[in-house]
Parts: sequence; C-alpha cells; structure tokens
Amino acid sequence: MIRTVVTGCAGHLPERVVTNAELAERVDTSDEWIVARTGIRTRHIAADGETTGDLAVAAGLKAMTAAGVGPEDIDLIIVATATPDNTFPATAAQVQARLGVRQGAAFDIQAVCSGFIYGLATADNFLKAGQFRRCLLIGSETFSRILDWEDRTTCVLFGDGAGAVVLEAQESEGGNDSPGVLTTHIHSDGRHHDLLYVDGGPSSTQTVGHLRMSGREVFKHAVTNLSAVIQEALDATGLQAGDIDWIIPHQANKRILDGTARKFGLDPAKVVVTVDQHGNTSAASVPLALAAAIADGRVKPGDLLLLEAMGGGFTWGSALVRW
Ligand code: ACO
Repeated sequence: MIRTVVTGCAGHLPERVVTNAELAERVDTSDEWIVARTGIRTRHIAADGETTGDLAVAAGLKAMTAAGVGPEDIDLIIVATATPDNTFPATAAQVQARLGVRQGAAFDIQAVCSGFIYGLATADNFLKAGQFRRCLLIGSETFSRILDWEDRTTCVLFGDGAGAVVLEAQESEGGNDSPGVLTTHIHSDGRHHDLLYVDGGPSSTQTVGHLRMSGREVFKHAVTNLSAVIQEALDATGLQAGDIDWIIPHQANKRILDGTARKFGLDPAKVVVTVDQHGNTSAASVPLALAAAIADGRVKPGDLLLLEAMGGGFTWGSALVRW
C-alpha cells in the first residue's frame, strides 16, 4: 500500500517580536490579563511589505532542505491561508514560481485555522491515490493585516508566521506502527459564520475587512468539536488516547489546549505549546509547533502524533501520524 510520509518540516517567523506590554500601550489591556486568559506572551508581526507569500517561500525552502529535495522533486504545492497576498491568483502559484517548481499543480486551501489539517487531508488523499508523488504543504498567515488594532478582544490573540512540511508517497506495510499519516478527519458547520468571520471581502464590501469574533462562544464550540474529532481519529485506527506521544494542536489558547488534553486523561506535558511565543498564527500554527518539537528533539522516530485544529467556518479536523 501507499502511505503519506512526512520527510521534512520547518517554520519561519517574521523577525519583529511584539510583547503584551507593547500592546498595552495601544489598547486597554495588560500582560496579566493576556497571559491568564490565553497563555500568550509574545507574537511575531510581519514587517511592512512582508507578505504571506514571503513567509511561505521561506518556510517551504527550509522544509525542502530538511527533506533533502529540490524544486524538480515537488509536484504538488498547497498553501493553507486565510490571508493570501492577492484575491487571485493563489498564493501557492506564486510560491511555486518563486521556488522554481515547474511541474505539477499549486493551489490554496481556505479553512482558516484548520487549513493545515485540511491541506494534510487533501494531500494525503492525492498521494495515496497516486496522482502526485511529493507535496509541499505550507500554512502561512499574516493575520496582523486583518486585525482591528483598536479591538482589544481580538488584536492581542494573533501573530504572523509560516510552517511547512514535505509529504511523500512511500510504499508501506500499513498498520498503525508503520511511519506516515494513519488517518485524517475534517468537518465544517457553516451555521456559525457570525461567531468568527472577517467583515470584508471582494464580493461583499470590496474591502479586506477585519476579524470579528465572539471569543467565549468560539471557546465552547472548540472544546466540544476538538474532543469529537480526536475521538473519531482514535476510533478509526483502534488506538487509545494513552498511545499518543505528542499532541500537536492548533495554538489558539492555552486553556483550550489544556482542557482538551484533560478530557482525554492526557498529561498536559504531552501537548506541544508555542502559543506563548507565537500567539495564534491560524493555518501556520500546527506546522510551526511540529517544527519546534522536532527541532528540540521531543518528537522521535516511532512516536504517535495527534494533530488537531478548529477555526472559522466553523471548520475542524484531526490527523494521527506515526513519526
Ligand atoms: N484585555 C483586558 N480585558 C479584556 C481583553 C483584553 N485584551 N479582551 C477582553 N477583555 C475583557 C472583556 O471586555 C470582558 O470584560 P467585561 O466582563 O467587563 O465585559 C472580560 O475581559 C471577559 O471577556 P471574555 O470574552 O468573557 O473573556 P474570556 O475568558 O472568554 O477570554 C478569549 C477571551 C481569550 C478570547 C477566549 O474566549 C478565547 O480564547 N476564545 C477562543 C478564541 C479562539 O480560539 N479563537 C481562534 C479560533 S481560530 C480562527 O479561525 C481564527
């Protein structure tokens, strides 16, 4: 059988770091409030002119280097983003050109914070079907461009960044112990549009718009939906929560991460946390967290990783990966 194996992973963050104290000079907030409610201490913010595409190219190049592949080896590029450089063409097409990839297909996926999991599910199905051999999957965002910097309830939560993986179709014996993507699950429920959305767009207001969120409501849905989709992944494979070595979650809020781990009786120490340093980087947060846990040696060959995310739409999803 063919299985999708992760052969390289890397992240890229803008240079500029913004602290909670700096935000407190701009809106009525405090380091204490932000840390207590979210766990966020700092976030990276893109420089003027530094785009989602720039971050995606940088992360993509690093992931290709980690995988030991060149532009001639990639035949599928997927960029998960809700903050594309242009309304069209897809950021992925620009990334393809800038990386010197001249074959295959490139397109964007828009599932907000679940974008990377949606991208992983999409790539996994293409690779397993034999339609493509090697995919560069990137989550890249510049949410700083769609924040209302006067709104303290949202502007403190997000940051910019990109993370990327190289995925390869490899022959596998199958089973839960062989390396690669074991299972993916994605869902959406469009009825909750008003709880998390951007109040602009090319066809509605002809403006870029700003992010609007009912944080408390999103929080409640997040814990319920994430628990369900994690259980779905376990049921699909016959694995138990106790088999999971590392949870690599979307980084929205430390309280959501801890709450989800507790629900499955898992030690919060098994949850990879980057929200403290990156804030919520939407589609970039899962690959950024994965890259951090690989770089510091936490993730080892044979480990079972649970990836999960929830975002605007609502969208949510999970994946189990044997490293
Ligand atoms: N500083 C100080 N006070 C604040 C701030 C702030 N930055 N923001 C809000 N407050 C105030 C509110 O005005 C409110 O004051 P009031 O009681 O006088 O009305 C009080 O703090 C409590 O506000 P809540 O919204 O009830 O606070 P809560 O504990 O729910 O925390 C938060 C808010 C952090 C947004 C939380 O609800 C959350 O993280 N929700 C999930 C959000 C999320 O995951 N979003 C990402 C989804 S992914 C995507 O697709 C983009």
